[in-house]
Amino acid sequence: MPKEQPPKGTDFLASALAAPVSSAEAALRPLSFADFAGQTKTVERLKVMVGAAKRRGEALNHILLSGPPGLGKTTLAFILGHELGRNVRVIAGPVIEKPGDLAGLLTNLEEGDLLFIDEIHRIPKTVEEYLYSAMEDFRLDIMIDQGPNARSVRLSIPKFTLVGATTRSGLLTAPLRSRFTLNTRLDYYQRDTLIGIVQRSCSLLKVELDAGGAQEIARRARGTPRIANNLVNFCRDFAQEKANGIITQPVAAAALELLEIDAAGLDEMDKRMMRLMAEHHQGGPVGLGTIAIAVGEEADTIEEVHEPFLIQEGFLARTAQGRILTPKGYHAIGLKASSSDQGSLL
Ligand SMILES: Nc1ncnc2c1ncn2[C@@H]1O[C@H](COP(=O)(O)OP(=O)(O)OP(=O)(O)O)[C@@H](O)[C@H]1O
Ligand SMILES: [Mg+2]
Repeated sequence: MPKEQPPKGTDFLASALAAPVSSAEAALRPLSFADFAGQTKTVERLKVMVGAAKRRGEALNHILLSGPPGLGKTTLAFILGHELGRNVRVIAGPVIEKPGDLAGLLTNLEEGDLLFIDEIHRIPKTVEEYLYSAMEDFRLDIMIDQGPNARSVRLSIPKFTLVGATTRSGLLTAPLRSRFTLNTRLDYYQRDTLIGIVQRSCSLLKVELDAGGAQEIARRARGTPRIANNLVNFCRDFAQEKANGIITQPVAAAALELLEIDAAGLDEMDKRMMRLMAEHHQGGPVGLGTIAIAVGEEADTIEEVHEPFLIQEGFLARTAQGRILTPKGYHAIGLKASSSDQGSLL
C-alpha cells in the first residue's frame, strides 16, 4: 500500500491502517516478548534465534516478517532490538533509491545492529542486487564514477541483522527471500487474544472497560491489534462524551455503529465492494481493477487491507478469473445467492 498517499473517502479502515505511527499508537506498543500477545509460532521462532545469538555473542540472522497491516511486524522488530540490547535503524524500502543510499545506511551501522526495512518488496531492483552480498558476505561492491573512469570499490560493512517487513511477500524475488534465515508470517489474531490486547490497552490508557465492552471491540476488530487499539481510542472518547466514561457492551456497540463498522467488523468499503459484486456482476468473478475503479479505492489498498480478511473469513473467494462473492458474502449484505448466482433480497 502506498502509505504516503492519503486514503480516499470514508474508508476508516484504510486510514486507520495507513496512518503514521501516532504517539497514541507508540504508547500502546509492547516492548518485550512478555507483552506481545499471540503469534505463538512466530514468537517461539524468534525467541530461539534471539537466545542463540545472545549465547554466541553474534549478530542475529536475517529475518523476514510478512502479513497484513497492523498485526505487529514493526512492533516485533523493535522487540528484537530490545531483547538483544541492540539499536534498531528503521527505513522504508522505497526511500532507498540507489545503491549509494544503501551504502550510506550500512556503513553507519554498528556490529550487531538491526536494520529494519519496512515495505521491503518496494525496494528498487537496482538496490536489491547490492543487498545480496551485504546480507551474505557483509560487503558491498559499489561502482563509482562513470565512463572510462568507472571502477568498483569494495566496502566491508559491520555484521548486521536485516529485519524485513512486507505485506506482500509474494512480490519479493526468490533470491532475496532465500537470503533470510527465517521467513515467518503473522496471522490474524484469535478473538480471545484480541480481548487481552483490548484490556491491556484500556489499562494503559486508564479507561474503565467491562467484559462485554472488551468482547464487543475484539469481535469487530478484524483480527487486527491496530484496529482494536483505534477502536479502543474511539470508544473511550464516545464513552466520555455520551456515557459515564465506562466502555460497556452497549457503549462499544453504539460507538462502532457510529463508525459504520458492523457486527462482523465489516466497514462501508467492504460492503460497497460486496454490493458491487452482487448487484452488477452476479457475484463474479470480477477483476480487482474493476472493483477498485467502481468503489473508488486504490487496487493495492483493496488487495492488502480489505481483501485478506474478507477471504480469510469466507466472504470472498479468489479464483484465476477474479474475485467471487460467496453465499456468506451475500448474507453479510442482506442478499442471498440464488441458484443462477443472481443476488436476490432475503
Ligand atoms: N501482539 C500484540 N500485542 C499487543 N499489541 C499489539 C500486538 N501486535 C501489534 N500490536 C499493536 O498494534 C499496533 C500496530 O502494530 P505494528 O505497527 O507492529 O503493525 P505492522 O504489522 O508493522 O503494520 P504495517 O504493515 O502497517 O506496518 C502497535 O502499535 C501495537 O500497539
Ligand atoms: Mg509496520
